[in-house]
Amino acid sequence: MTELTIALTKGRLEKQTLTLFKQAGIDTSFMEDKQRKLIFDSPDQRFTFLLVKAADVTTYVRRGVADVGIVGKDVLMENPYGYYEMLDLAIGKCKFSVASTPNYQPDDYKRKRIATKYPTVASEHFRAKGEDVEIIKIEGSVEIAPVLGLADAIVDIVETGTTLKENGLAVFEDICSVSARVIVNKAKLKRKRQAIFRLFTELKSVIDEEE
Ligand code: PRP
Repeated sequence: MTELTIALTKGRLEKQTLTLFKQAGIDTSFMEDKQRKLIFDSPDQRFTFLLVKAADVTTYVRRGVADVGIVGKDVLMENPYGYYEMLDLAIGKCKFSVASTPNYQPDDYKRKRIATKYPTVASEHFRAKGEDVEIIKIEGSVEIAPVLGLADAIVDIVETGTTLKENGLAVFEDICSVSARVIVNKAKLKRKRQAIFRLFTELKSVIDEEE
């Protein structure tokens, strides 16, 4: 058995996470030609890496199948319980925004329909502004919702802004910034303290605090 099991977010964040580990002196070369494999043990038996969907990282960590998880703050804001959030890795940087077509009237006071993959974040945002909105939960391609009249606006993550632009949308309001975080299983923080803090020290040495 390896020392630590780490759930990594598959896809967009994966490459940046592996680059950061490499910079921190942690060998991840055995994952480079991974093909369709999803579980990897490091040859030195220090780590087991699991490649899972972002929304599942919190589940694996909460239930102790993974000791540590690396996932975007956007996902944590939707699932804010059952783990410790320990480090901001300053990678995967993007923001939550309200966006829509140019004719959107943010100050119009009819009840707005907001399409989003992030119902908690969206409802919190409008609730804090004292605005009652209807949340329409969708799973992806959120940008087309205002174009097709499914919603008045969207709440989504914006990284380069390309998806918004290519679908004729613009940002009307920024909600908060988002970046990748390290989360830890509550019981494992005690049981595997040494291995976890060794990893933190290595990662901290390469976190870009400037950006
Ligand atoms: C996210 C988000 C936007 C896009 C923004 O989706 O929902 O659609 O990225 O990125 P950009 O500003 O660089 O264009 P993602 O690609 O993660 O896919 P998903 O819709 O499957 O969640």
